[in-house]
Amino acid sequence: MIRARALTKAYSRAASAKRAERRPSEDTSAKRAERRPSEVSTGSDGGRTLLAVDGIDLDVAAGESFGILGANGAGKSTTMRMIGATLQRTSGELTILGRDPAHEGPVIRAHLGVVPQQDTLDTELTVRENLLTYGRYFGLPRTALVPRIEELLDFAQLQDKRDEKVEALSGGMKRRLTIARGLVNDPSLLLLDEPTTGLDPQARHILWDRLYQLRETGVTLVLTTHYMDEAEQLCERLVIMDAGRIVAEGAPADLIRTYSSREVVEVRFGTNRNSEVLPHLHGIGDRIEELPDRLLVYTDTGESDLQEIVARGFMPVTALVRRASLEDVFLRLTGRSLVDG
Ligand SMILES: Nc1ncnc2c1ncn2[C@@H]1O[C@H](COP(=O)(O)OP(=O)(O)OP(=O)(O)O)[C@@H](O)[C@H]1O
Ligand SMILES: [Mg+2]
Repeated sequence: MIRARALTKAYSRAASAKRAERRPSEDTSAKRAERRPSEVSTGSDGGRTLLAVDGIDLDVAAGESFGILGANGAGKSTTMRMIGATLQRTSGELTILGRDPAHEGPVIRAHLGVVPQQDTLDTELTVRENLLTYGRYFGLPRTALVPRIEELLDFAQLQDKRDEKVEALSGGMKRRLTIARGLVNDPSLLLLDEPTTGLDPQARHILWDRLYQLRETGVTLVLTTHYMDEAEQLCERLVIMDAGRIVAEGAPADLIRTYSSREVVEVRFGTNRNSEVLPHLHGIGDRIEELPDRLLVYTDTGESDLQEIVARGFMPVTALVRRASLEDVFLRLTGRSLVDG
């Protein structure tokens, strides 16, 4: 479905150019960690060239659900736009559905469904009209489009909102409508750029349920996310991207096995005390990470390690023994936390 080799996208920026603007609403956690991609050269005007995607390789097979996990600015959307044939690569090879987007963009786009990071629904139109208008872009005849829209309204659980204007929908409903819109041409490959960012937990679960259902129908899903739980739930395989590069690739469970111990003990000793306690925990667990607000002890024997910490005279303010997650993989590989770094 997708084959990328040494795929690169460089952006040139004038000296005065600001960072790409982002809508504040898009970023639920202002603290999301970010490492900037490398700036590779400085032009004569003082402007810089930034490698947003820096020589990545990836393959996605038909029917797979594949994830790109990374922090702000990692290069996820840039990668998605190249796959979606709306952004030209700077160099490398890229084949989507057996075709090169540099030469056959329109043919590829006709077979793709795209859910961009920011909803681009027409807020003046109703739910149904949005689907109808989008379907017409693909040149679908009305006789095919009308029943298709009914199916999609059912799928997106938006039948009761069909004649409402989009501006009256909740964030979760808008996202479901954007997904429904992306499916109007019955694509074999659906690209979803941060499908649930900014949604509340319930709205996210409804969306995940819809995406599971799509998976079962055999649609290939490629999604980006910075939510570890989303990646673990939805992706059979994923890559972790950091500063334009892929730093790891695999099934979530395999990545966790490779890069983390089975369990993690999270202990908090209070402001400024974590680093004081750390030297006294020598020999406990396989490895200890110090975060600004807590220590993470990587181990296969969480409960007994916690007891050992207490036995050494250090009573944590809070303590939690949990299973290792993709968050731990991310931390190990990038040195930063995705959730609250
Ligand atoms: N049109 C552009 N011009 C210049 N730089 C850009 C442009 N679009 C993206 N960038 C830069 O390229 C890098 C990668 O951006 P990209 O949007 O692909 O990241 P992302 O992983 O999708 O981040 P986010 O989680 O915030 O959506 C960032 O440093 C960004 O500022
Ligand atoms: Mg993005």
